Order: sequence, then C-alpha cells, then structure tokens
Amino acid sequence: MKKITSEINYDLYSSISELNDEDRKLLEQAIKAAGTAYAPYSNFYVGAAVLMENGAVVQGSNQENAAYPSGLCAERVAVFAAGAHYPGVKIRAIAITAMFSDLKELLSVSPCGDCRQVMAEYEHRYHANIRLIMTAEKGKIMVIHNIKTLLPLMFNAENLKK
Ligand code: THU
Repeated sequence: MKKITSEINYDLYSSISELNDEDRKLLEQAIKAAGTAYAPYSNFYVGAAVLMENGAVVQGSNQENAAYPSGLCAERVAVFAAGAHYPGVKIRAIAITAMFSDLKELLSVSPCGDCRQVMAEYEHRYHANIRLIMTAEKGKIMVIHNIKTLLPLMFNAENLKK
C-alpha cells in the first residue's frame, strides 16, 4: 500500500486591479451577469462569464425555481449557452462571482460539484485547460489554471472506453 497526496495550486490576487486585462474584463462581465440572476429563494446572486477562444464572451446567472432542484447555477447556464452558441469553439476561461440581492459586495464563491463536472467536460472535450477566476473573501481573487484541479480522481469520457 502507498499513500498518495494530491495538492491544489492556485494564484491569489489581493484585488481585481491586480489581474491582467483579460481576466479583469471577464470578471467585470461576470459582475454584470450577477445582476441578471433570478434568485428570489436564496437571494444569492451569482454571475458567470465564459471567454471563448474566438474572443466571444457568454454570460450566465443562476436561475432558480419554486421547485428548487429545477433551478440552475450561473456556471452551467453560461457554459451550456456557450456550447449551444459556439459549437466547436474552445473555452479559454470562466469568471464567477456572487453577491447578495443588494448587489453591494462581491462574495466568495466556488463552483458546486455539478458545475465542476460540467466545466471539466468541456476541458476534456477540447483537450484544453480552462482558467477559472473566482472572487474570494475580502476582495481577493483566486485563479486556478484548470478545472481538473478541482476534481481529483474525476470521472470522464476515458472511463467509458472499452
Ligand atoms: N449557485 C450558483 O449559481 N453557482 C455556485 O457556484 C454556487 C451556487 C446558486 C445556486 C442557487 O441559485 C444559489 O446560488 C444558492 O445556492
């Protein structure tokens, strides 16, 4: 028996202004997208912005439902819309942020397990890493260089091969 350790690496920026232009603009689009959330049940407004390899940006926000499980997270709204609008185009990066319904302060957010799985599918589909930019506590920003990092031992299409 061997003990194996898997560690996670990410970059931590102290504010939005420290980000490079591409990441800062994408995060600004995610902030805008959060304003379009339909979140009357949680009052937790999440915005996502997906940057495609062709430069297009697709925004998404969480869309809740009175039948709670029928709602969808911002990340999946954005990633599925990107897949539908730009079939065959790689995803370069995804920015996400969250706010309470007063839209005053950026909150710490990290994608749920289902959204990680969905984002990882696109990374696997195009054999290209997707950078993830997320707001963290106290105005800090986390940047992770690929989605696989967030899903150690993940299930993907390789598992389905004979
Ligand atoms: N939510 C997202 O949209 N993305 C996340 O990364 C975390 C959670 C949504 C789902 C639900 O509408 C609300 O936030 C509270 O969980």
